[in-house]
Amino acid sequence: MINPVIRPRRLRSTPALRRLASETRLHPSELVLPMFVREGTGASVPIKSMPGVVQHTVDSARRAVAQAAEAGIGGIMLFGVPDVRDAIGTGATDPDGILNAATRALVAEAGDALVVQTDLCLDEFTDHGHCGVLSVDGTVDNDTTLERYREMALVQAASGSQLLGLSGMMDGQVAAVREALDQSGYVDTAVLAYSAKYASAFYGPFRDAVESTLVGDRRSYQLDPANRREGVREALLDISEGADIVMVKPAASYLDVLADVSAVSDVPVWAYQVSGEYAMIEAAAAHGWIDRRRAIEESVLSIRRAGADAVLTYWAVELADWLTERPTR
Ligand code: PBG
Repeated sequence: MINPVIRPRRLRSTPALRRLASETRLHPSELVLPMFVREGTGASVPIKSMPGVVQHTVDSARRAVAQAAEAGIGGIMLFGVPDVRDAIGTGATDPDGILNAATRALVAEAGDALVVQTDLCLDEFTDHGHCGVLSVDGTVDNDTTLERYREMALVQAASGSQLLGLSGMMDGQVAAVREALDQSGYVDTAVLAYSAKYASAFYGPFRDAVESTLVGDRRSYQLDPANRREGVREALLDISEGADIVMVKPAASYLDVLADVSAVSDVPVWAYQVSGEYAMIEAAAAHGWIDRRRAIEESVLSIRRAGADAVLTYWAVELADWLTERPTR
């Protein structure tokens, strides 16, 4: 009979021991809820590929923010779905455009209860669906796009956004936006850099959610899923340009990149559990193929374990409610 001297199972033997030995814990304050606000709709509209997620009206978004604050989550990340789109994404810099109008309303609703953050990217506002403006040859023009991002940053900051989510993957976008903010006195408006954002199939349902008009793909600006080192390079670059927070996206398929970035970053590192990750778990759970709650909890826990300080997830409020529920005695 072999008698092991080292027995790791000891610490797994009772619920109390397992709880005490747990290395990672989730808390509502490190969860951020992405939200879609649609222009010119009388009622919220369900998103087919994301069961349980809707395109909000400003009013329904207000109620959702009150609920999010109640649940104790850390913040919301706002995306606008405009009525009209054009080549340069004019709606993005219109102070009365849907994203900026919704920001003002939701900042007022949220008060100090949570952090209102805004997506700073042109793809929802351009008729071609790209994250930037196009040159005559049809490629995405990096430096002209930076000018648009600077304008967007000022309008978003003026609307009360406290944290700008730079998701467009243009070179130099963090430095460009930081400079514009500082020159206009918005020194306290923070920048969340989507640093390692991969050209991923897992954004599929999101493109439904924002009614994306994109034809083709974003491979000329988003990262190649094959590249791990480059994800770290992008994060370090963004930190040197003044990013307050860096992000890895998607999360589940990029936990290695997340762990690498988290090992070298001296600013907080976040991860975005994207629409496709959400849709896959919801679909499998709807079929009865996985335990929905356990799968959701494990998926977000794993993202934290890999090194994320906070997680953007469409389950933020539901998960927060689970985390704070008292066991029935
Ligand atoms: C771009 C943006 C995207 C997502 C967040 N910001 C889409 C893209 O790059 O195509 C995807 C989020 C998700 O899939 O949940 N503004």
